[in-house]
Amino acid sequence: KNILVINGPNLNLLGKREPVLYGSQDFSEVLDELKSDFPDCTISYFQSNNESELINALHAAADSGIEGAVFNPAAFTHTSIALADAVAAIDLPVVEVHISNIYGREDFRQKSYISKYAAGVIAGFGVAGYRLAVSYLVRS
Ligand code: DQA
Repeated sequence: KNILVINGPNLNLLGKREPVLYGSQDFSEVLDELKSDFPDCTISYFQSNNESELINALHAAADSGIEGAVFNPAAFTHTSIALADAVAAIDLPVVEVHISNIYGREDFRQKSYISKYAAGVIAGFGVAGYRLAVSYLVRS
């Protein structure tokens, strides 16, 4: 399967950013582990701090043979109707992943505009959530 992992704003700082919440692993290590755990998949990666680039990446994924997406919209989860509309608009299963348990944090993190249109939501399992999401997508 052809799978795209998309990370939203500030996740380029993973490993350095609030490690108590988000862990100390750099995303390139997570990606290497995903590739070795799923050798039959082609796993590509996109990260942006920019909402419109994330929207364009979702549109392009659907048009370029990607069969499923793992999406951590980061703070845009809680703010972006435009990203939710993009997930709804594309004909592609999208699994929403959060490294932290957003339901155990500040009130403003407990609302996701994305979840309604996601195939499923994984939160609170650290970076292992990306692996759980890919294992769902390979079977879907
Ligand atoms: C996050 C949770 C969001 O609330 C936060 O803004 C992030 C990361 C997570 O992976 O736990 O940037 O999506």
